[in-house]
Amino acid sequence: MGIAKIIQGGMGVAVSDWRLARAVASYGQLGVVSGTGIDTVLVRRLQDGDPAGVIRRAMASFPFQDLVRSVLHQYFLPDGRAPGKGYKLAPRPGVTGRRPTLQQALAMLGSYVEVFLAKEGHPGKVGINLLTKVQLPNLASLYGAMLAGVDYVLMGAGIPREIPGALDRLAQHLPAKLKLDLSPAERTDPDATEVPTVDFVPENFGADGGRPLERPAFLPIVASHSLAGVLQKKASGSIEGFVVEGPTAGGHNAPPRGKSTYDETGQPVYGERDLVDLEKMRDLGLPFWLAGGYGSHEGLEEALAQGAAGIQVGTLFAYCRESGIATELKARVLDQLVAGRGTVRTDPRASPTGFPFKVVSLDGSLSDEAVYGARRRICDLGYLREAYQTTDGSVGFRCPAEPVEDYVRKGGDAADTVGRKCLCNALLADIGAGQVRKGGSRELPLLTSGDDLATVTRLLRPGRSTYGAADVLAFLLGTTAPDDGTQAEAVPVLSAN
Ligand SMILES: Cc1cc2nc3c(=O)[nH]c(=O)nc-3n(C[C@H](O)[C@H](O)[C@H](O)COP(=O)(O)O)c2cc1C
Repeated sequence: MGIAKIIQGGMGVAVSDWRLARAVASYGQLGVVSGTGIDTVLVRRLQDGDPAGVIRRAMASFPFQDLVRSVLHQYFLPDGRAPGKGYKLAPRPGVTGRRPTLQQALAMLGSYVEVFLAKEGHPGKVGINLLTKVQLPNLASLYGAMLAGVDYVLMGAGIPREIPGALDRLAQHLPAKLKLDLSPAERTDPDATEVPTVDFVPENFGADGGRPLERPAFLPIVASHSLAGVLQKKASGSIEGFVVEGPTAGGHNAPPRGKSTYDETGQPVYGERDLVDLEKMRDLGLPFWLAGGYGSHEGLEEALAQGAAGIQVGTLFAYCRESGIATELKARVLDQLVAGRGTVRTDPRASPTGFPFKVVSLDGSLSDEAVYGARRRICDLGYLREAYQTTDGSVGFRCPAEPVEDYVRKGGDAADTVGRKCLCNALLADIGAGQVRKGGSRELPLLTSGDDLATVTRLLRPGRSTYGAADVLAFLLGTTAPDDGTQAEAVPVLSAN
Protein backbone atom coordinates (compact mmCIF):
# COMPACT_ATOMS: atom_id res chain seq x y z
CA MET A 1 0.00 0.00 0.00
CA GLY A 2 1.55 3.34 -1.02
CA ILE A 3 1.47 6.64 0.78
CA ALA A 4 -2.09 7.95 1.29
CA LYS A 5 -3.35 10.89 -0.80
CA ILE A 6 -5.92 11.72 1.82
CA ILE A 7 -5.40 12.12 5.52
CA GLN A 8 -8.62 12.28 7.49
CA GLY A 9 -7.61 14.95 9.97
CA GLY A 10 -7.42 14.16 13.68
CA MET A 11 -10.36 15.88 15.39
CA GLY A 12 -10.76 16.13 19.13
CA VAL A 13 -12.38 15.31 21.38
CA ALA A 14 -13.26 11.92 19.80
CA VAL A 15 -14.86 13.53 16.74
CA SER A 16 -12.41 11.45 14.75
CA ASP A 17 -12.98 8.38 16.88
CA TRP A 18 -12.17 4.77 16.01
CA ARG A 19 -15.28 4.34 13.85
CA LEU A 20 -14.39 7.19 11.51
CA ALA A 21 -10.69 6.32 11.37
CA ARG A 22 -11.49 2.66 10.71
CA ALA A 23 -13.87 3.54 7.90
CA VAL A 24 -11.30 5.80 6.21
CA ALA A 25 -8.39 3.38 6.72
CA SER A 26 -10.37 0.44 5.41
CA TYR A 27 -10.92 2.39 2.17
CA GLY A 28 -7.13 2.71 1.83
CA GLN A 29 -6.61 6.31 3.01
CA LEU A 30 -5.07 7.41 6.33
CA GLY A 31 -7.60 7.30 9.18
CA VAL A 32 -6.58 9.31 12.22
CA VAL A 33 -8.01 8.97 15.72
CA SER A 34 -7.83 11.82 18.17
CA GLY A 35 -5.94 11.09 21.40
CA THR A 36 -6.84 14.38 23.07
CA GLY A 37 -8.76 13.87 26.31
CA ILE A 38 -8.96 10.17 25.54
CA ASP A 39 -8.67 9.21 29.22
CA THR A 40 -11.94 11.02 29.92
CA VAL A 41 -13.55 9.60 26.77
CA LEU A 42 -12.66 6.09 27.97
CA VAL A 43 -14.06 6.48 31.47
CA ARG A 44 -17.25 8.10 30.16
CA ARG A 45 -17.84 5.29 27.67
CA LEU A 46 -17.42 2.79 30.50
CA GLN A 47 -19.84 4.72 32.71
CA ASP A 48 -22.36 4.73 29.86
CA GLY A 49 -22.28 0.93 30.08
CA ASP A 50 -20.27 0.20 26.88
CA PRO A 51 -23.52 -1.33 25.53
CA ALA A 52 -22.00 -3.20 22.58
CA GLY A 53 -19.01 -4.36 24.60
CA VAL A 54 -16.48 -3.08 22.05
CA ILE A 55 -14.46 -1.04 24.52
CA ARG A 56 -14.12 -3.97 26.90
CA ARG A 57 -13.27 -6.25 23.98
CA ALA A 58 -10.39 -3.93 23.04
CA MET A 59 -9.31 -3.68 26.69
CA ALA A 60 -9.19 -7.46 26.92
CA SER A 61 -6.29 -7.46 24.44
CA PHE A 62 -4.27 -4.82 26.35
CA PRO A 63 -0.96 -6.26 27.56
CA PHE A 64 -1.21 -5.09 31.18
CA GLN A 65 -4.36 -6.75 32.51
CA ASP A 66 -3.95 -5.75 36.18
CA LEU A 67 -4.44 -2.19 35.07
CA VAL A 68 -7.51 -3.12 32.99
CA ARG A 69 -9.12 -4.82 35.99
CA SER A 70 -8.46 -1.80 38.17
CA VAL A 71 -9.95 0.61 35.59
CA LEU A 72 -13.05 -1.54 35.11
CA HIS A 73 -13.48 -1.78 38.85
CA GLN A 74 -13.31 1.99 39.23
CA TYR A 75 -15.33 3.14 36.23
CA PHE A 76 -17.43 0.45 34.51
CA LEU A 77 -21.17 0.65 35.16
CA PRO A 78 -22.87 -2.34 33.46
CA ASP A 79 -26.24 -0.54 33.39
CA GLY A 80 -24.86 2.91 32.71
CA ARG A 81 -25.37 5.91 34.98
CA ALA A 82 -28.58 6.48 36.84
CA PRO A 83 -30.69 9.19 35.14
CA GLY A 84 -29.49 12.68 36.04
CA LYS A 85 -26.26 11.40 37.58
CA GLY A 86 -22.98 12.99 36.54
CA TYR A 87 -19.84 11.20 35.38
CA LYS A 88 -17.10 10.26 37.83
CA LEU A 89 -13.99 12.11 36.69
CA ALA A 90 -10.61 10.81 35.60
CA PRO A 91 -7.83 12.41 37.70
CA ARG A 92 -6.55 15.65 36.19
CA PRO A 93 -3.10 15.47 34.61
CA GLY A 94 -0.26 16.76 36.77
CA VAL A 95 3.53 16.70 37.14
CA THR A 96 4.35 13.60 39.15
CA GLY A 97 7.97 12.83 38.37
CA ARG A 98 8.61 9.21 37.44
CA ARG A 99 5.78 7.83 39.55
CA PRO A 100 3.03 6.06 37.61
CA THR A 101 -0.41 7.66 37.92
CA LEU A 102 -3.97 6.61 37.19
CA GLN A 103 -4.20 9.53 34.77
CA GLN A 104 -1.28 8.16 32.73
CA ALA A 105 -2.77 4.68 32.87
CA LEU A 106 -6.07 5.96 31.48
CA ALA A 107 -4.39 8.01 28.74
CA MET A 108 -2.34 4.97 27.71
CA LEU A 109 -5.31 2.60 27.80
CA GLY A 110 -7.67 5.06 26.09
CA SER A 111 -5.28 5.55 23.16
CA TYR A 112 -4.67 1.82 22.95
CA VAL A 113 -8.42 1.12 22.72
CA GLU A 114 -8.95 3.79 20.06
CA VAL A 115 -6.10 2.61 17.82
CA PHE A 116 -6.84 -1.09 18.38
CA LEU A 117 -10.44 -0.65 17.23
CA ALA A 118 -9.52 1.65 14.33
CA LYS A 119 -7.05 -0.93 13.01
CA GLU A 120 -9.32 -3.93 13.44
CA GLY A 121 -10.32 -6.01 10.44
CA HIS A 122 -8.43 -4.34 7.56
CA PRO A 123 -4.82 -3.81 6.48
CA GLY A 124 -5.09 0.00 6.24
CA LYS A 125 -2.97 2.57 8.09
CA VAL A 126 -4.07 4.44 11.20
CA GLY A 127 -2.61 7.53 12.85
CA ILE A 128 -3.13 9.31 16.15
CA ASN A 129 -3.42 13.07 16.54
CA LEU A 130 -2.32 14.86 19.71
CA LEU A 131 -2.04 18.53 20.60
CA THR A 132 1.50 19.48 21.61
CA LYS A 133 0.05 22.04 24.02
CA VAL A 134 -1.89 19.44 25.97
CA GLN A 135 1.48 18.25 27.14
CA LEU A 136 1.02 16.19 30.28
CA PRO A 137 -0.81 13.07 28.97
CA ASN A 138 0.98 12.91 25.61
CA LEU A 139 3.77 10.42 26.35
CA ALA A 140 1.36 7.96 27.96
CA SER A 141 -1.02 8.32 24.99
CA LEU A 142 1.79 7.77 22.51
CA TYR A 143 2.95 4.60 24.25
CA GLY A 144 -0.62 3.23 24.41
CA ALA A 145 -1.13 3.97 20.71
CA MET A 146 2.19 2.28 19.89
CA LEU A 147 1.21 -0.83 21.86
CA ALA A 148 -1.78 -1.04 19.48
CA GLY A 149 0.50 -0.64 16.43
CA VAL A 150 -0.23 2.94 15.42
CA ASP A 151 1.36 3.76 12.04
CA TYR A 152 1.50 7.58 12.18
CA VAL A 153 1.66 10.26 14.86
CA LEU A 154 0.46 13.74 13.88
CA MET A 155 0.95 16.69 16.22
CA GLY A 156 0.33 20.41 15.91
CA ALA A 157 -0.71 23.25 18.26
CA GLY A 158 2.82 23.89 19.42
CA ILE A 159 6.34 22.87 18.46
CA PRO A 160 6.71 19.12 18.94
CA ARG A 161 10.53 19.16 18.80
CA GLU A 162 11.08 16.52 21.48
CA ILE A 163 8.49 14.02 20.26
CA PRO A 164 10.50 12.14 17.58
CA GLY A 165 13.18 11.17 20.11
CA ALA A 166 10.51 10.18 22.61
CA LEU A 167 8.96 7.89 19.97
CA ASP A 168 12.36 6.24 19.46
CA ARG A 169 12.67 5.57 23.19
CA LEU A 170 9.09 4.43 23.71
CA ALA A 171 9.50 1.95 20.84
CA GLN A 172 12.25 0.35 22.97
CA HIS A 173 9.98 0.49 26.09
CA LEU A 174 12.42 3.01 27.60
CA PRO A 175 11.46 5.95 29.84
CA ALA A 176 10.81 9.17 27.94
CA LYS A 177 10.53 12.76 29.09
CA LEU A 178 9.56 16.22 27.82
CA LYS A 179 10.58 19.60 29.22
CA LEU A 180 7.51 21.08 30.87
CA ASP A 181 6.25 24.19 29.05
CA LEU A 182 6.15 26.76 31.81
CA SER A 183 4.30 30.00 31.24
CA PRO A 184 7.09 32.28 29.95
CA ALA A 185 6.24 35.15 32.29
CA GLU A 186 7.13 32.97 35.25
CA ARG A 187 10.50 31.96 33.92
CA THR A 188 12.41 35.04 34.98
CA ASP A 189 15.71 33.27 34.42
CA PRO A 190 15.06 30.17 32.37
CA ASP A 191 18.65 28.96 32.68
CA ALA A 192 18.96 29.41 36.43
CA THR A 193 16.63 26.68 37.58
CA GLU A 194 16.23 23.22 36.28
CA VAL A 195 13.13 23.01 34.08
CA PRO A 196 10.71 20.40 35.44
CA THR A 197 9.97 17.48 33.16
CA VAL A 198 6.98 15.37 32.23
CA ASP A 199 8.06 11.75 32.58
CA PHE A 200 6.65 8.45 31.44
CA VAL A 201 8.19 5.13 32.44
CA PRO A 202 6.70 2.11 30.61
CA GLU A 203 8.22 -0.31 33.10
CA ASN A 204 6.07 1.19 35.86
CA PHE A 205 2.99 -0.18 34.13
CA GLY A 206 4.33 -3.65 33.49
CA ALA A 207 6.44 -3.29 30.32
CA ASP A 208 9.34 -5.72 30.66
CA GLY A 209 11.55 -4.74 27.73
CA GLY A 210 10.48 -7.46 25.36
CA ARG A 211 10.21 -7.05 21.61
CA PRO A 212 10.61 -3.45 20.41
CA LEU A 213 7.47 -1.77 19.07
CA GLU A 214 7.16 -0.33 15.55
CA ARG A 215 8.25 3.29 15.67
CA PRO A 216 5.43 5.22 13.95
CA ALA A 217 6.12 7.83 11.27
CA PHE A 218 5.97 11.34 12.70
CA LEU A 219 4.16 14.16 10.86
CA PRO A 220 4.23 17.54 12.62
CA ILE A 221 1.39 19.89 11.67
CA VAL A 222 2.83 23.30 10.84
CA ALA A 223 1.52 26.65 9.65
CA SER A 224 4.80 27.89 8.16
CA HIS A 225 7.67 26.58 6.08
CA SER A 226 10.12 28.10 8.55
CA LEU A 227 8.76 26.00 11.40
CA ALA A 228 8.93 22.93 9.17
CA GLY A 229 12.59 23.73 8.45
CA VAL A 230 13.43 24.26 12.14
CA LEU A 231 11.77 21.00 13.11
CA GLN A 232 13.56 19.08 10.40
CA LYS A 233 16.93 20.40 11.63
CA LYS A 234 16.40 20.52 15.37
CA ALA A 235 13.97 17.74 16.27
CA SER A 236 15.21 15.05 18.63
CA GLY A 237 14.71 12.28 16.04
CA SER A 238 13.45 11.68 12.53
CA ILE A 239 10.45 13.35 10.92
CA GLU A 240 8.77 11.58 8.04
CA GLY A 241 6.71 14.43 6.56
CA PHE A 242 4.54 17.46 7.35
CA VAL A 243 0.94 18.55 7.33
CA VAL A 244 0.82 22.21 6.30
CA GLU A 245 -2.30 23.78 7.75
CA GLY A 246 -3.68 27.17 6.77
CA PRO A 247 -5.96 29.51 8.72
CA THR A 248 -9.21 28.34 7.07
CA ALA A 249 -8.91 24.89 8.75
CA GLY A 250 -11.36 23.71 11.41
CA GLY A 251 -10.44 23.63 15.10
CA HIS A 252 -7.55 25.75 16.35
CA ASN A 253 -5.59 27.96 13.95
CA ALA A 254 -2.14 29.44 14.25
CA PRO A 255 -2.42 33.16 15.07
CA PRO A 256 -1.51 35.60 12.27
CA ARG A 257 2.20 36.37 12.12
CA GLY A 258 3.37 39.70 13.45
CA LYS A 259 1.11 42.18 15.20
CA SER A 260 -2.48 40.89 15.35
CA THR A 261 -5.12 42.90 13.54
CA TYR A 262 -8.85 42.20 13.54
CA ASP A 263 -11.62 42.92 11.05
CA GLU A 264 -14.81 44.79 11.97
CA THR A 265 -16.35 41.54 13.30
CA GLY A 266 -13.38 40.92 15.60
CA GLN A 267 -11.87 38.06 13.59
CA PRO A 268 -8.12 37.90 13.07
CA VAL A 269 -6.89 39.09 9.69
CA TYR A 270 -4.38 36.90 7.87
CA GLY A 271 -2.14 38.29 5.18
CA GLU A 272 0.75 37.61 2.81
CA ARG A 273 3.09 36.71 5.65
CA ASP A 274 0.85 33.82 6.63
CA LEU A 275 1.13 32.15 3.23
CA VAL A 276 3.35 29.08 3.22
CA ASP A 277 6.08 29.07 0.58
CA LEU A 278 5.47 25.70 -1.05
CA GLU A 279 8.72 25.86 -2.97
CA LYS A 280 10.53 25.92 0.38
CA MET A 281 8.37 23.00 1.53
CA ARG A 282 9.34 21.04 -1.59
CA ASP A 283 13.01 21.86 -0.94
CA LEU A 284 12.83 20.10 2.43
CA GLY A 285 12.51 16.86 0.50
CA LEU A 286 9.87 15.26 2.70
CA PRO A 287 6.28 14.45 1.72
CA PHE A 288 3.75 17.04 2.79
CA TRP A 289 -0.05 17.26 2.86
CA LEU A 290 -1.99 20.52 2.55
CA ALA A 291 -4.81 21.23 5.01
CA GLY A 292 -7.41 23.96 5.39
CA GLY A 293 -9.98 24.43 2.64
CA TYR A 294 -8.60 21.65 0.40
CA GLY A 295 -11.66 19.44 0.86
CA SER A 296 -12.69 18.90 -2.77
CA HIS A 297 -11.43 17.01 -5.81
CA GLU A 298 -10.13 20.28 -7.22
CA GLY A 299 -8.37 20.91 -3.92
CA LEU A 300 -6.67 17.53 -4.14
CA GLU A 301 -5.59 18.12 -7.74
CA GLU A 302 -4.24 21.55 -6.87
CA ALA A 303 -2.28 20.15 -3.93
CA LEU A 304 -0.79 17.39 -6.06
CA ALA A 305 0.13 19.93 -8.74
CA GLN A 306 1.98 21.93 -6.05
CA GLY A 307 4.12 18.92 -5.22
CA ALA A 308 2.16 17.82 -2.15
CA ALA A 309 1.63 14.12 -1.43
CA GLY A 310 -2.03 14.90 -0.86
CA ILE A 311 -4.41 16.72 1.46
CA GLN A 312 -5.59 16.53 5.06
CA VAL A 313 -9.33 17.11 5.39
CA GLY A 314 -11.33 17.67 8.55
CA THR A 315 -14.64 19.47 8.14
CA LEU A 316 -16.22 17.11 5.57
CA PHE A 317 -15.44 14.12 7.80
CA ALA A 318 -16.57 15.85 11.01
CA TYR A 319 -20.20 15.99 9.84
CA CYS A 320 -20.39 12.51 8.25
CA ARG A 321 -22.26 9.59 9.80
CA GLU A 322 -19.20 7.86 11.25
CA SER A 323 -17.86 10.88 13.16
CA GLY A 324 -18.20 11.09 16.93
CA ILE A 325 -20.28 14.31 16.98
CA ALA A 326 -23.68 13.54 18.52
CA THR A 327 -26.14 12.58 15.77
CA GLU A 328 -28.66 15.21 16.83
CA LEU A 329 -26.07 18.01 16.66
CA LYS A 330 -24.84 16.90 13.23
CA ALA A 331 -28.44 16.83 11.99
CA ARG A 332 -29.10 20.34 13.27
CA VAL A 333 -25.96 21.71 11.60
CA LEU A 334 -26.80 19.98 8.29
CA ASP A 335 -30.40 21.27 8.45
CA GLN A 336 -29.10 24.78 9.03
CA LEU A 337 -26.76 24.50 6.05
CA VAL A 338 -29.42 23.11 3.73
CA ALA A 339 -31.58 26.08 4.74
CA GLY A 340 -28.71 28.34 3.66
CA ARG A 341 -27.82 29.35 7.21
CA GLY A 342 -24.88 28.35 9.30
CA THR A 343 -21.91 30.57 9.84
CA VAL A 344 -18.42 29.94 11.10
CA ARG A 345 -16.47 32.53 13.05
CA THR A 346 -12.77 32.59 13.89
CA ASP A 347 -12.92 33.51 17.55
CA PRO A 348 -9.61 34.89 18.84
CA ARG A 349 -10.70 34.59 22.50
CA ALA A 350 -12.75 31.41 22.88
CA SER A 351 -9.91 28.95 23.39
CA PRO A 352 -7.97 29.02 26.66
CA THR A 353 -4.86 28.19 24.61
CA GLY A 354 -4.83 31.72 23.17
CA PHE A 355 -4.93 30.30 19.62
CA PRO A 356 -7.83 31.42 17.40
CA PHE A 357 -10.57 28.77 17.38
CA LYS A 358 -13.30 28.37 14.77
CA VAL A 359 -16.83 28.26 16.12
CA VAL A 360 -19.98 27.14 14.27
CA SER A 361 -23.06 29.23 15.17
CA LEU A 362 -25.72 26.97 16.58
CA ASP A 363 -28.65 28.05 18.75
CA GLY A 364 -28.51 26.76 22.28
CA SER A 365 -24.77 26.03 22.07
CA LEU A 366 -21.98 28.09 23.62
CA SER A 367 -21.61 30.00 20.34
CA ASP A 368 -24.59 31.98 21.66
CA GLU A 369 -23.16 34.63 23.99
CA ALA A 370 -26.21 34.57 26.27
CA VAL A 371 -25.90 30.80 26.70
CA TYR A 372 -22.17 31.17 27.36
CA GLY A 373 -22.81 33.96 29.88
CA ALA A 374 -25.24 31.77 31.83
CA ARG A 375 -22.67 28.98 32.38
CA ARG A 376 -21.09 28.87 35.82
CA ARG A 377 -17.34 28.71 35.36
CA ILE A 378 -15.80 25.46 36.52
CA CYS A 379 -12.51 23.76 35.61
CA ASP A 380 -12.69 20.05 36.39
CA LEU A 381 -11.04 18.47 33.34
CA GLY A 382 -8.03 20.71 33.06
CA TYR A 383 -6.40 19.62 29.79
CA LEU A 384 -5.81 23.18 28.62
CA ARG A 385 -4.36 24.54 31.86
CA GLU A 386 -0.97 26.15 31.58
CA ALA A 387 1.83 25.32 33.98
CA TYR A 388 3.36 28.15 35.97
CA GLN A 389 5.99 28.45 38.67
CA THR A 390 4.55 29.29 42.08
CA THR A 391 6.33 31.65 44.46
CA ASP A 392 7.69 28.68 46.43
CA GLY A 393 9.20 27.26 43.23
CA SER A 394 6.71 24.42 42.71
CA VAL A 395 4.54 24.01 39.61
CA GLY A 396 0.93 25.21 39.58
CA PHE A 397 -1.73 25.06 36.88
CA ARG A 398 -4.27 27.64 35.77
CA CYS A 399 -6.73 28.08 32.93
CA PRO A 400 -8.16 31.39 31.74
CA ALA A 401 -11.58 29.71 31.43
CA GLU A 402 -11.64 28.72 35.11
CA PRO A 403 -13.42 30.89 37.72
CA VAL A 404 -11.87 34.35 37.38
CA GLU A 405 -10.99 34.66 41.08
CA ASP A 406 -9.08 31.35 40.98
CA TYR A 407 -7.14 32.44 37.92
CA VAL A 408 -6.21 35.78 39.46
CA ARG A 409 -5.25 34.14 42.78
CA LYS A 410 -2.78 32.02 40.80
CA GLY A 411 -1.14 35.12 39.37
CA GLY A 412 -3.11 35.22 36.11
CA ASP A 413 -4.35 38.49 34.60
CA ALA A 414 -8.15 38.93 34.80
CA ALA A 415 -8.11 40.46 31.31
CA ASP A 416 -7.02 37.07 29.94
CA THR A 417 -10.21 35.43 31.18
CA VAL A 418 -12.57 37.56 29.08
CA GLY A 419 -14.44 35.53 26.46
CA ARG A 420 -12.61 32.29 27.28
CA LYS A 421 -14.75 29.18 26.95
CA CYS A 422 -14.31 25.84 28.65
CA LEU A 423 -13.47 23.81 25.55
CA CYS A 424 -12.77 20.69 27.63
CA ASN A 425 -16.36 20.38 28.84
CA ALA A 426 -17.94 21.74 25.64
CA LEU A 427 -16.12 19.38 23.31
CA LEU A 428 -17.20 16.40 25.41
CA ALA A 429 -20.78 17.66 25.13
CA ASP A 430 -20.28 17.70 21.32
CA ILE A 431 -19.89 13.91 21.36
CA GLY A 432 -22.86 13.34 23.68
CA ALA A 433 -20.69 12.84 26.79
CA GLY A 434 -21.23 16.21 28.47
CA GLN A 435 -21.15 16.40 32.26
CA VAL A 436 -24.38 16.59 34.25
CA ARG A 437 -24.06 19.14 37.06
CA LYS A 438 -25.66 19.18 40.48
CA GLY A 439 -29.30 20.16 40.04
CA GLY A 440 -29.42 18.40 36.68
CA SER A 441 -28.05 21.09 34.35
CA ARG A 442 -25.86 19.86 31.51
CA GLU A 443 -22.65 21.11 29.97
CA LEU A 444 -23.45 22.47 26.51
CA PRO A 445 -21.68 21.93 23.19
CA LEU A 446 -19.51 24.25 21.10
CA LEU A 447 -18.98 23.01 17.56
CA THR A 448 -16.08 23.80 15.28
CA SER A 449 -15.49 23.48 11.55
CA GLY A 450 -13.40 25.00 8.80
CA ASP A 451 -14.48 28.10 6.91
CA ASP A 452 -15.75 25.85 4.09
CA LEU A 453 -18.50 24.26 6.18
CA ALA A 454 -21.12 24.93 3.50
CA THR A 455 -19.34 22.45 1.18
CA VAL A 456 -20.79 19.57 3.18
CA THR A 457 -24.16 20.10 1.49
CA ARG A 458 -22.54 18.98 -1.79
CA LEU A 459 -22.24 15.53 -0.22
CA LEU A 460 -25.93 15.03 0.44
CA ARG A 461 -27.47 12.90 -2.29
CA PRO A 462 -30.99 13.82 -3.37
CA GLY A 463 -33.48 12.77 -0.74
CA ARG A 464 -30.81 12.03 1.88
CA SER A 465 -30.18 13.94 5.05
CA THR A 466 -26.83 12.34 5.95
CA TYR A 467 -23.67 11.18 4.17
CA GLY A 468 -20.90 8.73 4.99
CA ALA A 469 -17.10 8.63 5.01
CA ALA A 470 -17.25 6.71 1.71
CA ASP A 471 -19.11 9.67 0.14
CA VAL A 472 -16.41 12.05 1.37
CA LEU A 473 -13.61 9.93 -0.07
CA ALA A 474 -15.38 9.53 -3.41
CA PHE A 475 -16.00 13.29 -3.54
CA LEU A 476 -12.33 14.00 -2.85
CA LEU A 477 -10.92 11.36 -5.18
CA GLY A 478 -13.37 12.16 -7.99
CA THR A 479 -14.80 8.63 -8.02
CA THR A 480 -18.30 7.37 -7.28
CA ALA A 481 -19.14 6.12 -3.81
CA PRO A 482 -20.93 2.82 -3.63
CA ASP A 483 -24.56 3.64 -2.93
CA ASP A 484 -25.49 1.34 -0.10
CA GLY A 485 -29.04 2.61 -0.35
CA THR A 486 -29.36 3.10 3.39
CA GLN A 487 -28.83 5.73 5.99
CA ALA A 488 -26.92 3.24 8.12
CA GLU A 489 -23.24 3.46 8.95
CA ALA A 490 -21.18 2.81 5.86
CA VAL A 491 -18.33 0.83 7.44
CA PRO A 492 -17.45 -1.74 4.83
CA VAL A 493 -15.32 -4.25 6.67
CA LEU A 494 -16.99 -5.01 9.95
CA SER A 495 -20.55 -4.75 11.03
CA ALA A 496 -21.22 -1.52 12.87
CA ASN A 497 -21.09 -2.17 16.58
C1 LIG B 1 -14.34 19.30 14.42
C2 LIG B 1 -12.87 19.51 14.18
C3 LIG B 1 -11.97 19.23 15.21
C4 LIG B 1 -10.59 19.35 14.98
N1 LIG B 1 -9.72 19.00 15.98
C5 LIG B 1 -8.39 18.96 15.73
C6 LIG B 1 -7.49 18.43 16.70
O1 LIG B 1 -7.88 17.99 17.79
N2 LIG B 1 -6.17 18.41 16.39
C7 LIG B 1 -5.70 18.88 15.19
O2 LIG B 1 -4.49 18.83 14.96
N3 LIG B 1 -6.53 19.38 14.26
C8 LIG B 1 -7.86 19.40 14.49
N4 LIG B 1 -8.72 19.84 13.52
C9 LIG B 1 -8.17 20.20 12.19
C10 LIG B 1 -8.26 19.01 11.21
O3 LIG B 1 -7.47 17.93 11.64
C11 LIG B 1 -7.83 19.40 9.78
O4 LIG B 1 -6.48 19.74 9.72
C12 LIG B 1 -8.62 20.58 9.25
O5 LIG B 1 -9.97 20.42 9.55
C13 LIG B 1 -8.43 20.70 7.74
O6 LIG B 1 -9.14 21.77 7.20
P1 LIG B 1 -10.67 21.66 6.70
O7 LIG B 1 -11.48 21.72 7.94
O8 LIG B 1 -10.83 22.86 5.84
O9 LIG B 1 -10.82 20.36 5.96
C14 LIG B 1 -10.11 19.79 13.73
C15 LIG B 1 -11.03 20.11 12.73
C16 LIG B 1 -12.39 19.97 12.94
C17 LIG B 1 -13.35 20.30 11.83
